[in-house]
Amino acid sequence: MAVITFANTKGGAGKTTAALLLVTELLHRKYRVCVIDADPQRWFSRWYEGAALLPNFTVETYVSTATIQKTIHERRSQWDFVIIDLPGIQSPLLAAAVGLSDHVLVPIQGSSMDAQGGAQVLDMLRYLDRKAGIRIPHSVVLSRVNPMITTRSMQAVKRLLNEQQIHVLDTPIAERAAFREMFDLSRPLRRLEAGQGQSLEKAVANAADYASDVLALVTSGTATKSRPLSDRSFSHLETAA
Ligand SMILES: Nc1ncnc2c1ncn2[C@@H]1O[C@H](COP(=O)(O)OP(=O)(O)OP(=O)(O)O)[C@@H](O)[C@H]1O
Ligand SMILES: [Mg+2]
Repeated sequence: MAVITFANTKGGAGKTTAALLLVTELLHRKYRVCVIDADPQRWFSRWYEGAALLPNFTVETYVSTATIQKTIHERRSQWDFVIIDLPGIQSPLLAAAVGLSDHVLVPIQGSSMDAQGGAQVLDMLRYLDRKAGIRIPHSVVLSRVNPMITTRSMQAVKRLLNEQQIHVLDTPIAERAAFREMFDLSRPLRRLEAGQGQSLEKAVANAADYASDVLALVTSGTATKSRPLSDRSFSHLETAA
């Protein structure tokens, strides 16, 4: 159905966490999901290896610039969703993955450093659109947002994105202990033990709303449609990287 890439060239922006939350929510909704772990640090694969086997789910690891395009092409026709987790650095894999995506999600925390890493990805997407007419739908997902207060830096990041007419998902991903635990304990969010208070319930509700936003984007007829893959010039993709 769709290839979705998570990209931000700054480490720790929350890419793998956002990807993991989307994947586990898609599995919960009975979609068949293939993850391409394009990060040599293999954070997603490590989580997968530690988690009890989930049905309708696989993680491909050790992809390289030589193999990623073929892997995406093949997996696209075999799975409902292909989710790509990229490393938090500038990498040639970025252009290859972005160029074959139906939607790119850029997790950005409310800090200026993080926004800079996100801006590199957004600049590349803009370059592809203006110079090559390759239009890849993309959205920013605000990540690690304090659920209690809106910080000044977060407001500044939001204002900047608004000015540049960059689409931002309605649901931000909150900073929550449950999201860290899911990672640390190698479990899907919905299989964590309820701790004190309502925090797990709130975390699950947050993940569900965020996944619904993404599903609406990639399945709605109104979302900007990406051009067929054959139209995309890879020389431009390479230049943009
Ligand atoms: N919403 C969140 N709530 C709590 N902790 C979070 C959240 N998002 C990320 N973290 C924690 O922050 C750290 C970095 O997050 P994550 O690995 O998702 O970022 P990343 O962008 O994938 O990093 P890298 O570029 O190194 O791959 C992890 O320890 C993770 O558990
Ligand atoms: Mg990561």
